[in-house]
Amino acid sequence: MTITSPHNERLKEIRKLSRRRARDAGGRFVAEGEDLLAAADALGWEPVERYCAAGSGLAGVEVAPDALGAVSQLGSGTRALAVYEQRWASAPVGPLCVYLHGIADPGNVGAVLRSALAFGAASVALGPDCADPYGPKAVRASMGAVFAVPLARVGEGATLPGTTIALDSHAGEPLAAVAAQLDGPATLLVGAERAGLPDAVIAAADRTAWIPIRSESLNAAMAATVALYELTRDPRAAPGADHRMPTP
Ligand SMILES: C[S@@+](CC[C@H](N)C(=O)[O-])C[C@H]1O[C@@H](n2cnc3c(N)ncnc32)[C@H](O)[C@@H]1O
Repeated sequence: MTITSPHNERLKEIRKLSRRRARDAGGRFVAEGEDLLAAADALGWEPVERYCAAGSGLAGVEVAPDALGAVSQLGSGTRALAVYEQRWASAPVGPLCVYLHGIADPGNVGAVLRSALAFGAASVALGPDCADPYGPKAVRASMGAVFAVPLARVGEGATLPGTTIALDSHAGEPLAAVAAQLDGPATLLVGAERAGLPDAVIAAADRTAWIPIRSESLNAAMAATVALYELTRDPRAAPGADHRMPTP
């Protein structure tokens, strides 16, 4: 049977999941678009529910395109979406981890996940005041990496894997020098868009490093990406994992 009304109870539940409070309460999230759903399928994520535009020939409960568009968070609407259970690791793992502190822009959180996957990070740890990686903008920006990279929520002062390297746009040693001395697991610490890393987090880190640039600072996700590259570009020394997404 095709769902035709935007007031359908199941569609209302999906709409609610665009709000963080509902996601946190229910432990579920929504992914939209055939590519993201294919990434989830390839990695063995079984959706709780799956919907598709009526007549599209895609898998799922058929929904009239207008009604599906009404629950979509994509400006252009969608032909497919699915609801999944969130997955949280009990603790961040190495050998290579990225810790985010106060990254409030969900696009940045998603972009970090995408880079973490690309450079073989084993996990991403979300510290205080981070955007929800399972929010619609983060899921979209991750390009499917949210299904591949283990996520852990951590509190202030949590133990992180290996040598902790605080990325600071104004202080510390050049990151290349720190990377050259690494001989084991490591965690890169990335600070908030405006405030950067708190002094206490920097003080508690094993090393402080900066990426030499000619301007004030890099965007947080860009800094994480450059730092991941720096730590992994020598494959013989790189702390990394291989949980590559299967190519479609
Ligand atoms: C937009 S920056 C924050 C800028 C902030 N005004 C400050 O003074 O730290 C966000 C985060 O990206 C990282 N970052 C940005 N540029 C960096 C650089 N050149 N070297 C190392 N880390 C950098 C840091 O972790 C920083 O906390």
